[in-house]
Amino acid sequence: MNRTVYLNGDLIAEADAKISVFDRGFLFADAIYEVTAVVEGKLIDYPGHKARLRRSLDALGIPMPVAEEELLALHKEIARRNGIAEGLIYLQISRGVQERDFLFSRDTEPTIVLFTQSKRILHNPKWKTGLALQTVPDGRWSQRQIKTVQLLYSSLMKTDAHSKGYDDVLFVEDGYVTEASSANFHIVTSDGVVVTRELSDALLHGITRSSILDLARQAGLAAEERRFTVDEARSAAEAFVTSATSFVTPVVSLDGQKIGTGDVGPVSQRLLDIYVNNQLAQGLAVAG
Ligand code: PDD
Repeated sequence: MNRTVYLNGDLIAEADAKISVFDRGFLFADAIYEVTAVVEGKLIDYPGHKARLRRSLDALGIPMPVAEEELLALHKEIARRNGIAEGLIYLQISRGVQERDFLFSRDTEPTIVLFTQSKRILHNPKWKTGLALQTVPDGRWSQRQIKTVQLLYSSLMKTDAHSKGYDDVLFVEDGYVTEASSANFHIVTSDGVVVTRELSDALLHGITRSSILDLARQAGLAAEERRFTVDEARSAAEAFVTSATSFVTPVVSLDGQKIGTGDVGPVSQRLLDIYVNNQLAQGLAVAG
């Protein structure tokens, strides 16, 4: 790998990018992040990611280290430098470098990093086959609306599920579905209503989720925001997840039991098509 990465004001070779061992992102997971997809040289849903970045920083009291226009310019520049036509841009901001102490000071300079990853986003093979999920208890902390880098529980659970042949996990709390390890989860009822959990601290306020809800309603589909049990999910007509990197990906089974027909459902397929068309028309060109 010979990428150019961005670290605290400099675009440098990845091998030269070094962060202190005293960075609170490293010691306390005191950091937040965003992931923005790039498809056909366009930033996907960028305004939403920028707005949530601000909310996550405010929630932790970390100052925004760069101006908004500069942040957009950096996203474009790093995609151009690395020749990313399809993939993602990862952005992380930590509270910065301090002596290790549970009591932190609010006046350190944040550490900001951006890097790119090439990744196949369009023509995802899972769009055709759908995902197999395993339900597991939601053991994460309670402030899940903040996009922090505390991802260990999710990573352990997903890796364990993967070793058993599942694609991902579906988190369940008090009998209700929260979300998947790194995507929001939605069902379609037998009446064709798209149901997604209402926003709260229990789940990440997904940017793709929000776009899909708007687009579904514009397309004349009924959409409800309310919590639903894992039993309701098991008996749904369809299910799908949404995220920056998976867009709309059908879910065809839970714990080995088929959802609906066990095939990709028409509503999921339609929402995926609508989302791709909409974003390719609206995405901000990295060359611009
Ligand atoms: N994850 N829920 C969780 C826990 C997530 O980590 C993500 C995204 C989402 C979907 O949010 P959005 O639509 O804004 O991407 C929901 C990213 C892709 C990641 O961690 O790589």
